[in-house]
This record gives sequence, structure tokens and C-alpha cells, in this order.
Amino acid sequence: MIAEAARGLAQLVPDWPRIAIVLGSAQAAFIESLNNTREIPYGQIPGWPSPSVPGHAGKIILGECGARRVCVLAGRVHLYEGRTPQEVTFGVRVLGKLGTRVLVLTNAAGGINPSYSPGLLVLLTDHINLQGQNPLAGPNDGTLGPRFPDMTEAYDRRLRDQARSAALELGLGFGEGVYAGLLGPSFETPAEIRYLRTIGADLAGMSTVPETIAARHMGMRVLGISTVTNMAAGMQSEITHDEVLATGKARARDLSRLLEALLPRIEV
Ligand code: HPA
Repeated sequence: MIAEAARGLAQLVPDWPRIAIVLGSAQAAFIESLNNTREIPYGQIPGWPSPSVPGHAGKIILGECGARRVCVLAGRVHLYEGRTPQEVTFGVRVLGKLGTRVLVLTNAAGGINPSYSPGLLVLLTDHINLQGQNPLAGPNDGTLGPRFPDMTEAYDRRLRDQARSAALELGLGFGEGVYAGLLGPSFETPAEIRYLRTIGADLAGMSTVPETIAARHMGMRVLGISTVTNMAAGMQSEITHDEVLATGKARARDLSRLLEALLPRIEV
């Protein structure tokens, strides 16, 4: 199904961009910055799952970010929607088949590191997979990648260096930290957050980890950027999805500025 979807998309668009961006909750502002766009709804692609959560659209957008052609996935599916790890990583794998070399994953996350505050953009240095699942479990498809892929540098150091430079030039405050991927959909308990802090997590979220694993399996370079939409459980009075969406939306413009500065300078 991955190969079939890739064949269909390659027929529609012969020269597929080598950089792709997956946008998280309420982060659509970046799409508006693109020129000469073309949209392909997920529903038109056989096998491509459509998101069910408000705040997550469901389409591919091809466009130009400055001089750089990029592919944006606006909306993703999550394990907590009851989707399988194969469904969650389907889009990333299709893009890999289409020649994507660099994958930028954005998400909303709760801030565990006490030096963070809501609204901060954080470059991911690493992740901890606590979702209890892995998209590579099961028979290995050797056409995608190796049985035991290395995850030493899951988040590419050079991409992070370039993102850091871009943020500094723009005068954007940012952090760097470790993302703990949880299954969700309930937010964590305060005890879980204390545990996550102890094991070295700076952020808690419910996405990104399966996509990073699938992308690394295929040899893509990955950059992860979280928007801290709230402080994690026990660090503020309560957490609501409305707050996650509102903060994500309020910070989408700066996230877009960062991407606009960064993407044209990535060599692929
Ligand atoms: N926890 C997990 N996922 C999240 C959070 C959180 O606090 N905020 C946004 N996504």
C-alpha cells in the first residue's frame, strides 16, 4: 500500500520535494506563508488515514518556501485515535518512498523542564518512547530499511544547529530538550510527570515518536520542534485541549517564521 500510494502521488507530481514538514495541532500558519501551493487531500490517496481530532486537518500541501519546494502534511493521525503504528507512519513512509530526505516534525507538548514556559519553541535533542508500540515491530520490510536501525542520533545534529542559528538570527527564544512520547489520550498525572522528569524528559507529548522511528528506518534526517502549549500536569492547575490549541495557534506565526528562515538553508 505504501508503494501504491507513492506511485499514485509520483504520477500527480513528478518532482517530489526532498523536504517534508508534518504540522501538529493548530500550526497551520506556515501553510499561509507558502507560494504556488497545490493541495492533495489525504482522502484522495488510497490507504492514507484521515485525522479525527479537531485542530488537525488532513491534506498534503506542496508549495514554495522562499526558493525551496517543500511538502507539508497538515494533520497527522495518532495512536490514541486507535490507529495502528502502521497507519500512524503511513504518510512518512510514502514520503520516504517519494524521495524525501529531510523530515521536520512539529508538535504540541507539555513542558516538564521547569525552565520552560507555555509558548516556548523547543528543538528536540532526543526522545523516550513510552507508547508501548513501535512501527517497526513485525516482519521487517527490507525495502524500507534494516531490521535494527540505529537511533543514536534520532534527531539530526546538523539540522538542529541550523534551526538554532535561524532562531538566534530571528531573536526567537527557544529551548532544547528530550521529548517523552506517551500513548495518551488522557494527559499525564502529576506522579507520571515527576517520573518523566526523573528519567530525563523535558517534554511530554502524544505524537512524533513513531514518525521519527519510521523516518530513521528509511534513512531520513529528522528535525523535531515542539511548541510548549502548557506546563505538564502538576505544574499548573489543569490542562485542557482548548488551551493546547490556543497556545499552539498563538505561537504558529513564530514557528512559521522559524521554518521560513530554516528550510531554504537546508541542503538536500
Ligand atoms: N501532555 C501530553 N501531550 C501534550 C501535552 C501534555 O501536557 N500538551 C500538549 N500535548
